[in-house]
Amino acid sequence: MNKIIAANWKMHKTAEEAERTINKMKELLGGKAPAGREIIIFAPFTALEASSKCADGFASIGAQNLYPASHGAFTGEISPSMIKACGANFVLTGHSERRHILHENEKEVGIKTAFALENGLNVMLCIGETLEERESGLLSNVLERQLILGTNFNHGLLDNARFMIAYEPVWAIGTGKSATSQDIAETHKICRSLIGKCLGEKADSIPLLYGGSVKPANAGSILLLDNVDGVLVGGSSLEAEQFCPIINA
Ligand code: PGA
Repeated sequence: MNKIIAANWKMHKTAEEAERTINKMKELLGGKAPAGREIIIFAPFTALEASSKCADGFASIGAQNLYPASHGAFTGEISPSMIKACGANFVLTGHSERRHILHENEKEVGIKTAFALENGLNVMLCIGETLEERESGLLSNVLERQLILGTNFNHGLLDNARFMIAYEPVWAIGTGKSATSQDIAETHKICRSLIGKCLGEKADSIPLLYGGSVKPANAGSILLLDNVDGVLVGGSSLEAEQFCPIINA
């Protein structure tokens, strides 16, 4: 399986800035993803169309959120068909900033995930515990609950759509404090077995990524760990000069 290197640009970059970053990445990588690597970029809604046109086969483009309805009176929201019309084919669900800053609950994350898959989008579902949960011994319980509710959809949908999980400990996101290799290896082992429990025979084809303060200096060793099929990168994905060494790690 190719290692998946995903960028989460969060609330950064206008369409023009996104285009400039993707062009720089293409220049640094010789126009295509290196062998053994797949690139996905989660761009803000307003940069989706420009990013898709610019990426054109070099990377897949995804949105960072969706609303689980096809259309209607939902001021400020964006549907899967609007995302697809911009040329994007992925979406992130359950990112910790949406769970903790925007107060999306586990049930809502599950509804969005199911709706995205039902409407032809590939999904990267993010899960992860807070420091308090980890320190109270609740790690497995939290991950299991997030995975059960996040995979509460007709698993037959996975025959036609791609589905990935990103494990991102909340305490390691945007803090500069990455989990240790041992933390990542241990937790990915737990996640793998929980994914098996939730998705049965479909589980083996589901990539499991790590996210949280991934940078050029630690990406190589993280990608070598068992059960790590890729990385989801926030801060270090914003500049091509930082992100390309991670892609090549
Ligand atoms: P970070 O963000 O790499 O800046 O820690 C990761 C993420 O939020 O997906």
